[in-house]
Amino acid sequence: MELKNDLILRAAKGESVERYPVWLMRQAGRILPEYRAVRNSLSGFKELVETPELAAEVTIQPVDLLDVDAAIIFSDILVVPEAMGLTYEMVEKKGPWFPKTISSAEELKFAEVDFDIEDRLGYVTEAIRITNKELSGRVPLIGFAGAPWTIFCYMTEGQGSKTFSVARKILYTDPALAHELLDRITNVTIAYLKAQIKAGAHMLQIFDSWAGILGKEQYSEFGIRYIEKIANAITEVPLTIFSKGAFYSIADLAKLNCNTIGLDWQMDPVSFRNEIGESRTIQGNLDPAVLYGSHESVEDLTNKMLDTFKSRRHIVNLGHGVYPDIDPEKVRTFIKTVKSYEINC
Ligand code: CP3
Repeated sequence: MELKNDLILRAAKGESVERYPVWLMRQAGRILPEYRAVRNSLSGFKELVETPELAAEVTIQPVDLLDVDAAIIFSDILVVPEAMGLTYEMVEKKGPWFPKTISSAEELKFAEVDFDIEDRLGYVTEAIRITNKELSGRVPLIGFAGAPWTIFCYMTEGQGSKTFSVARKILYTDPALAHELLDRITNVTIAYLKAQIKAGAHMLQIFDSWAGILGKEQYSEFGIRYIEKIANAITEVPLTIFSKGAFYSIADLAKLNCNTIGLDWQMDPVSFRNEIGESRTIQGNLDPAVLYGSHESVEDLTNKMLDTFKSRRHIVNLGHGVYPDIDPEKVRTFIKTVKSYEINC
C-alpha cells in the first residue's frame, strides 16, 4: 500500500521535508472520549489490547480526530513479559500488577524464549494488519516494544515503583541472573519487532521508560548493551530509541544503529544536537504539562520549542506520553501549531 503521507519516515531518514511531522506518545488513549467509550464497553484494558478489530479502531481514532502524521499501534509493552510466561493484570487506577515475578535462577522458567511469536502475540500482528488495511495509506503505522531494561523492571518488581529497588538490587546481588533475563527479553523483543515489521509496521520505537533510574555505568551495562543488540537486528525500517531520563547516556545511544533519538522535556535539544551533529533525527520534546495551559500559551511554547531545535531532522512530539486529563482541544492546538510552522533552517 502506497503511503499518502510519509513525512515521518522521511524525517526519520534525514530526507527533505516540507514541514515537521507530529504525533504524540499515548495519543491512542484516555484523552479521547471516543477511546473511553470503546474501553468502557469492555471488561478491561486487556480485552481491548487482545481484540484486534477494536485495537485497530482505537489506533485510528487519533488520526481521524487529532490529525496526527502517524498512528501507533494500540497495545502495551507488557504483552512481551506476558508472552514469556508472566501474566499481568491492569488494575483500575493503579496500573500493572504481575502476580508472579522473577528473583532467582529457578524462576527463569517463567521467562520463556523459544515460542512462536504469532502463537502468543498474533493479536498484535493481526491488529497491525487490520489497522493498515483501514488506514489505506493515510499515515504510517508505528510499532513498538519496551526496552529490555524496562521490561526487566516489571518482570522482577511486578508493578510500578518510584525506586525500582527490587529490580536494581538484582544488578548487584546476582548480575548473572540479570544478564540472563535481559538477554532472553532481548531475543524475544527482536523476534516480536520483526513480526511487527512483517505484519506492516512502517517504523518502530523502543520505550525505555525507566532508563533514568540507573547511573551511567549501569545503564551502559544493563541497558544500552541490549538496546544495541536490538538496533543491530532491526535494519528493515526506521528505529527510534526513547530512553526517558538517561540524559547522561543519550550521546552513546545516538551512536547506535538507529535513525531517531527521543528526548524527554528535561533534555536539552541544543546541546544534544551540538554533540551529535545532523547524524540522527531528534524526536520530542514539549513538556506534556504545557498542554494544561491556555491555547495561547500552548501555541507560544510549541513555537519556542520548535525554534530551539533548529534542524530539519526533527519529529515533533511531547517529552513523554500525553496525560489522560488533557483537553483534546489543547492537543489540536499543539498539532495545528506544528503544522503551520515554517521550517527556517
Ligand atoms: O502511545 C499510544 O497511544 C499507544 C499505546 C500505548 C499504551 N502503552 C497504551 C496504554 C503505549 C505505546 C504504551 C507503552 C507503555 N506501557 C509504556 C512505555 C511508555 C511510557 O509511558 O513510558 C509503559 C511504561 C507501559 C506500562 C503501562 N501501561 C503502565 C505503567 C500503565 C498504567 C498507567 C496508566 O497510564 O494508566 C499502562 C496502561 C495503559 N497502556 C493505558 C493505555 C492507554 C491506560 C489503561 C486504560 O485505558 O485503562
